Amino acid sequence: MLRAGGLVALPTETVYGLGANAEDPAAVARIFQVKGRPPSHPLIVHLGDAEQLDDWVQDVPAAARLLAERFWPGPLTLVLRRGSRVPLEATGGLETVAVRVPDHPVALALLSSFGSGVTAPSANRFGSVSPTTADHVRAELGDAVDFVLDGGPCEVGVESTIVDATGDAPSILRPGGVTREDLEAVLGCSLVVPSTSRVRVPGQHPSHYAPRARVVLVEPEKVVSEAELAQELGHQVGVFLPSAFADAPVKVQAVVTVPASMAAYARGLYGFLRDLDQHGCDLIIASLPVEDGLGLAIANRLRRAAGPRPTV
Ligand code: TXA
Ligand code: MG
Repeated sequence: MLRAGGLVALPTETVYGLGANAEDPAAVARIFQVKGRPPSHPLIVHLGDAEQLDDWVQDVPAAARLLAERFWPGPLTLVLRRGSRVPLEATGGLETVAVRVPDHPVALALLSSFGSGVTAPSANRFGSVSPTTADHVRAELGDAVDFVLDGGPCEVGVESTIVDATGDAPSILRPGGVTREDLEAVLGCSLVVPSTSRVRVPGQHPSHYAPRARVVLVEPEKVVSEAELAQELGHQVGVFLPSAFADAPVKVQAVVTVPASMAAYARGLYGFLRDLDQHGCDLIIASLPVEDGLGLAIANRLRRAAGPRPTV
């Protein structure tokens, strides 16, 4: 299917991707069309092993080598200088390219038998919640995707951490499955994480990862009262109930009790948002976790789910 220019949804450890042959500009163009994503938003090239890195990029700094060695296969994406093999269609016209080796047996089997790079954004419509099961992919994309490889639910549940490794000092463009603390421990220096409210790179709009329901963030101790008030005012309210309040009865449309473990929270996050949409909620009240470890990525996605929506 990939060789014929088709689109194949594939499981990764983070979220499901919508894959195409990275060297086939027409297939890459179809990804943008199917997702409804502006063509200026760059894609990630997925490789079967780290040895292929130099076939796709140029000038790999020592820090990037170190990170690739330590974290691949895994939820880390490195932005490096584009090699000539990467079509500009895949990079949104940029002279840099994002690359990663995913840690999922099905993805790795596909990549190794294909033998080349697969560009894959998350397999959702532009701006909406990323899919973490094959059913989510089918619900999002239906017949628009030629083949869905079902590899079960994704283990990590939030997207890869994106590190800009083009300069002397690597920086985090998107927090994700590899924690900032783990990166800093390997690099031996501290990393800058840009504020989520600023548009830093193409494809990083404030509203993203958003369910249909509007998401409102409040302090943890206000979640219950704000949710009940909104329900009384006529909203169909879904609640992300902080684990500290797990036993509180809440009179709203639907309740998700947030797992105390950040790994379990990350794994469940996108499914929870989808479930609350399914329950007919028009408003979701949630609070932010402590922003360390995986909590940083979870908070980033929640902020952006709550971000201003484009007016249609
Ligand atoms: O976990 C993941 O990274 C998943 C799985 C499928 O691998 N993929 C994913 O792809 O999240 P996508 O397209 O939804 O998000 C990739 C983001 C883009 O939105 C863009 O912000 C950033 O990667 N990106 C890609 N190429 C870039 C580049 N050359 N410079 C800066 N940012 C880049
Ligand atoms: Mg995405």
